[in-house]
Amino acid sequence: MPGFSTRAIKAASRAPETPQAPVNVPIYASSTFEVADAAELGDLLDFARPGHSYSRYSNPTHAALESAMADLEGGEAALATASGMAAIHGVALSLLRSGDELLIPTAVYGGVIGLARSVLERSGITTRAVDTTDVAAVTAAIGPRTRLLWLETISNPTTALADIVALSDIVHAQNILLAVDNTFASPALATPLALGADLVVHSTTKYIGGHSDLIGGAIVGSAERVAAARTIVINAGGNASPWEAFLALRGLKTLALRMERHSSNAVAVAEALEGAPGVAAVHYPSLASHPQHELSRRVLRDGMAGGMMAVELNGGRAHGERFLERVRIAVHATSLGSVETLVSHPASSSHRQLTDADLAAAGLTPGTIRVSIGIEDADDLITDLAAAADPG
Ligand SMILES: Cc1ncc(COP(=O)(O)O)c(C=O)c1O
Repeated sequence: MPGFSTRAIKAASRAPETPQAPVNVPIYASSTFEVADAAELGDLLDFARPGHSYSRYSNPTHAALESAMADLEGGEAALATASGMAAIHGVALSLLRSGDELLIPTAVYGGVIGLARSVLERSGITTRAVDTTDVAAVTAAIGPRTRLLWLETISNPTTALADIVALSDIVHAQNILLAVDNTFASPALATPLALGADLVVHSTTKYIGGHSDLIGGAIVGSAERVAAARTIVINAGGNASPWEAFLALRGLKTLALRMERHSSNAVAVAEALEGAPGVAAVHYPSLASHPQHELSRRVLRDGMAGGMMAVELNGGRAHGERFLERVRIAVHATSLGSVETLVSHPASSSHRQLTDADLAAAGLTPGTIRVSIGIEDADDLITDLAAAADPG
């Protein structure tokens, strides 16, 4: 009989047979999977047969999240990644090579600019920013080396919207691809593939997870484009964790309900704050004053616009910083898309290196606050945020 240590390892490694399917997807906390022979392992590593070999390549919990994301975004395939940035990196590196140019919106998540400067630039890929709310400006910005247009369904943090359908027609006519970051809308509110996008990315850290308890990302699109992105992500080590894939799957089950509540709370807050003491402007797509209000009805479903808004305070940087110290229900923290209301001040955090002129180019003022409205009671949020904004 083998010794105790051998028996303990064998005994504790037997995966249970479950004739009854579990109601939830199990967390496959296994970095590796036993194979019968070298040929099987080779095939698995080449994705030439179904199954799993090593969790940097694939894992059953990741596969469950991938199938759910492909389903909800209307794509052929999906890839779960370690973070939203790993997804953006995977898309960029799978579609661009040295000499290519990437077009990004002037109002875009700062991580995209960080990736362009720290990774793409040294790979010989140049990036140009353009106002993507202006179709003519995008058309004029396209150059002979432009290979990819990047959009956000709702931009971070100004909530600007681009006409995805019109822009997809324009870039596709010139053999340029379109990738859309759908993090702010989530597939409950918008499905950019159906509007013409070639690939969709998510930070599942945000609305998909919904509870500020995971970091993750996803890429969705055709089987061919997702396989190309998978090659980059596998080789760069940007794979998801099965624990976090499980949390993202759990989040998906309540996504629709949460987005309804985020949206109805946000409308109530946006309407109450517009014109309130200390508030110069509120940027939220459901407000009639939003420059792309009409477009938002075509891009976003069921008249909902999610929980993200930008609130411009009229007292500049000091007013923005004071606002953060005054909130009692909202939490001053970076990130977004969670059940709790989160507030941040781009001029002193994510955009702190920018001059006031740079801020203006990104659609921000020194007093702009980014608000991610949670699912608390709307009246409590209105009282809290209005009191924090009031300079009196
Ligand atoms: C729109 C958007 N995309 C991508 C990301 C990056 O996601 P992660 O932090 O999961 O890498 C963020 C993060 O804030 C974001 O707001």
